[in-house]
Amino acid sequence: MSGARVRKAVFPVAGLGTRFLPATKAMPKEMLPVVDKPLIQYAVEEAAAAGIEQMIFVTGRGKRAIEDHFDRAPELEQTLDAQRKHELLQLLLSATPAGVSFVYVRQPEPLGLGHAVLCAEQVVGDEPFAVILADDLIDATPGVTAQLIESFRRTGASVLAVEEVPPQDVSKYGIVAAEPLNRYEARVTRIVEKPRPEEAPSTLAVVGRYVLRPEIFIELAHTPRGRGGEIQLTDASARRVARGEVIARRFEGTRYDCGSKEGFLRANIAFGRKGGLIG
Ligand code: G1P
Repeated sequence: MSGARVRKAVFPVAGLGTRFLPATKAMPKEMLPVVDKPLIQYAVEEAAAAGIEQMIFVTGRGKRAIEDHFDRAPELEQTLDAQRKHELLQLLLSATPAGVSFVYVRQPEPLGLGHAVLCAEQVVGDEPFAVILADDLIDATPGVTAQLIESFRRTGASVLAVEEVPPQDVSKYGIVAAEPLNRYEARVTRIVEKPRPEEAPSTLAVVGRYVLRPEIFIELAHTPRGRGGEIQLTDASARRVARGEVIARRFEGTRYDCGSKEGFLRANIAFGRKGGLIG
C-alpha cells in the first residue's frame, strides 16, 4: 500500500453552516470568500498541488453553487473575452485546475463526517485517498495535503494532520495520544472525538486533513453513531489505531478555523496582508 498513489480527495460539503447564518441561508458555507476566493477553492487548489486528480464532493441540499463554481461558465467567458478582459478571464478559468475531474455524491441525511466519507466509497474504491475539510484553511508551503501524502508514501499508514490546541479547546476536536517517531510524526495510540478537557488524552488535535487507507470504509460501515448521534470518522479511525496503523503528522503551516467567525476574520486579514491589500 505504501507504493499506491493518492489520486483522489473527498470533500465533505453537506454541512449546514448554521454558524454563519444569515450569510449561509441560501449559500453554502464553503463558498464564503477569504479575500476573493471561496474556501472550497483553496481546498481544491491544495489538493491539485498535491497531485490529486479526482475531487469528490459529498454534497447535500442547497449546495448547487459549489457545482457551478467548478463548472465552465460559457456566457461569462464569452463576455469577458469579447471585452478583452483577459486577466479576469484567466482568473475565472483558474477556478478549475487543469487535468482534474470533479465528481458529486449526495449525503442524503446529515449523519456526520464518518457517514459523509462512507458516501464516497463507491467512487474512491480500493485505494488510499485524502479527506479535506474546507473549513480548516491552512496556509502552508508545501500544502498540508502534500505533507500528509509524503508521510503516507514513506510509512504506508493512514495519516492525520495534528496540532497542539489550548486545553480549553480539546472538546472541539478529535484528540490523539501518540508515541513520537521523529520530529513531525507519531504513532497514534488512542483517539477520542471531542473529549471533555478532563478526559482528553492530550492537547494534540486532529485538524481537517487526512490521508486514509481504504480499509477505513469497512470500519465506517460498522461504526455505530457516536458523539452528537453522528457516525464519526474518529471512531472508525480508532479501530485502525488499535492495529497500529495510524500516524499523526504535525504539519508546517498556519491554520485558520474558518468554521468560526473569529478564525474566518483572521484568515481574511492574514490573506489580505499577504496579498498587499492592507498594511
Ligand atoms: C471534525 C472531526 C474532528 C476534527 C475536526 C477538525 O469535527 O470530527 O475530529 O478534529 O473536524 O476540524 P467538526 O469540526 O466537523 O465538528
